[in-house]
Amino acid sequence: MKRTLESLEGQPLEGQRVFVRVDFNVPLREGVVTDTTRIEASLPTIRWLRDRGCRVLLASHLGRPKGQPKPEYSLRPVVPELERALGIPVAFLEDPLADDAPRQTRQMKRGDVMLLENTRFHPGEEKNDPALADAFARLADFYVDDAFGSAHRAHASTEGVARRLKPAVAGFLMARELEYLHGALSEPARPFLAVLGGAKISGKIDVIEALLPKVDEILIGGAMACTFFAACGLEIGGSLVEPDRIELAKQLLDRAGNKIVLPQMVTVASKLSGDAEIRSVPRDAIPRDWSVYDIAQEAAEEFVRRITSAKTIVWNGPMGIFETPPFDAGTVAVARGLAAATDRGATTIVGGGDSAAALAQTGLSSKITHVSTGGGAALELLEGKELPGVAALDGA
Ligand code: 3PG
Repeated sequence: MKRTLESLEGQPLEGQRVFVRVDFNVPLREGVVTDTTRIEASLPTIRWLRDRGCRVLLASHLGRPKGQPKPEYSLRPVVPELERALGIPVAFLEDPLADDAPRQTRQMKRGDVMLLENTRFHPGEEKNDPALADAFARLADFYVDDAFGSAHRAHASTEGVARRLKPAVAGFLMARELEYLHGALSEPARPFLAVLGGAKISGKIDVIEALLPKVDEILIGGAMACTFFAACGLEIGGSLVEPDRIELAKQLLDRAGNKIVLPQMVTVASKLSGDAEIRSVPRDAIPRDWSVYDIAQEAAEEFVRRITSAKTIVWNGPMGIFETPPFDAGTVAVARGLAAATDRGATTIVGGGDSAAALAQTGLSSKITHVSTGGGAALELLEGKELPGVAALDGA
């Protein structure tokens, strides 16, 4: 358990400068933010601090500029989004290492907000350089971490500064992510189901291993299912498969007993194109020259039946190539299944990344108990790993 922002209620916060690490690693097109989800997700923390008279410094990385200032990775496009959302002007601190940067932060008025330029423009950020962490720490009086999406990175603005500025507490978004991706899954209401998909089994092995002893069932879709089909000795045609993981898939199937549920029917096509001829075939009748691009309707119905009978469901990874309709059908069906389960009182958790994007496409995000803003961080938490950005925060 980590100390949260709420624990500071009643303390003299007025006028304090707060270094808030957020994850504003948002998609941009021609200098405009195309998805503001991560910005909106940190607004409750920013508003809470402003309401208590704090001076708020927001720090984030954007993309992977590799320690160099590159204009295409500037955080400036986030300023108008913040100004719109907060209804106040937001200052921009180009160089937090400049000699007068601490003075600039002291000149801020109560409730003012300042956004720092991309933390990854400094070579010391990803190296967790103590000198950079010291420089960040000089700008503020205490630390709030709301950057769940970056919590698996031990960087100067996530881990280093949290060791220097005290108190170092979890913001509202961080606390909520930990509550659902860690807390709810530690003591889940049962049946507890995991739905895993995506292209590669290799990226999900640790998740499967960590979840197997805890869940009642793991439903597997996506291209990942084909590696399991191959492990069962089935023909998989031209489908994506990881030959070097087939043995491991066999071992997982042996260990899992009946817990791993693979799709009985799959959608195959001769090529990955919306206008290709497509068929639903049983998993043991995949034609040689065809490839699996989705779970079939029958399998989706079976998955949804299991999902809607469960009390806790965690989902990570699409069921097919959801970017190319009609191969989005299985993913859309699973998203609807999760929404229906939520309506029936189940706790539904979507583990960020592709599945969150797929869910957003269906317009059902608000029907899910918790949709994580983290990709890699959500996966690492599901794998049972300790996240360095979280470990550095004060204990509750
Ligand atoms: C993410 O988008 O998953 C986080 O912002 C982390 O980004 P990174 O993988 O570049 O560290």
